[in-house]
Amino acid sequence: MNGPAPVITVDGPGGVGKGTLCQWLATRLGWHLLDSGALYRLTALAAQRRNLPPTDESAVAAVAAGLNVVFSAGTDGVLQILLDGEEVSAVIRSETAGNAASQVAALPQVRAALLQRQRDFRQTPGLIADGRDMGTVVFPNAELKLFLTADPAERARRRHNQLSQKEMNVSLAALEREIAERDARDVQRTAAPLMPAADAIILDTTALNIAQVCEWAWRQIGQRPKIPTSHPD
Ligand code: C5P
Repeated sequence: MNGPAPVITVDGPGGVGKGTLCQWLATRLGWHLLDSGALYRLTALAAQRRNLPPTDESAVAAVAAGLNVVFSAGTDGVLQILLDGEEVSAVIRSETAGNAASQVAALPQVRAALLQRQRDFRQTPGLIADGRDMGTVVFPNAELKLFLTADPAERARRRHNQLSQKEMNVSLAALEREIAERDARDVQRTAAPLMPAADAIILDTTALNIAQVCEWAWRQIGQRPKIPTSHPD
């Protein structure tokens, strides 16, 4: 294939179904997966462990630039995330970690420090990129840009189910408040705010199950002849 590897971007707010869709697409196409939110969550955690306030922009950006992180599949095939050699995949999934991530993500120097690291995930045969600014900033020339939305109450309910399955207890009301707070911060920030790219295809997933969302995305891919939809199993 000539030129850089193809990219499909999937952006949208938290709890909208991006993570599940992206994993499904990456498996089905045999492509790489970038979970950009994990990089912001890891930056927030690493900064916290160095006792840095999330407002110290240059210090947190230095932490982001030097993140010592390894993504690897464990023996059971489940993704492991090692920060400074310590397994942190469960720690970074809490709602508190998500909120801390959205604070450091508002800092332009932090976003700049993570930009190239995200672009380095673009490797053959292709990349599924999950985030907030994948289609607008990180991969503006992506082959296909998808943007998912859903009512905040429905997103809080989905997050609640997800966290309960992982035995992380948090009340639905607290989640609704945190999601609203995080949405506001992500949409209102000046650096790469959460918004669909002008050429993104938008889907409201409020009334859809994950199978319907995957089916919809697969139809969009089918309409892009440049994206090969079969790969050797
Ligand atoms: O997607 P996830 O919930 O893991 O993201 C955590 C936070 O990281 C988001 O609320 C957002 O503030 C930030 N983020 C971002 N840009 C991305 C991905 C995540 O600002 N591309």
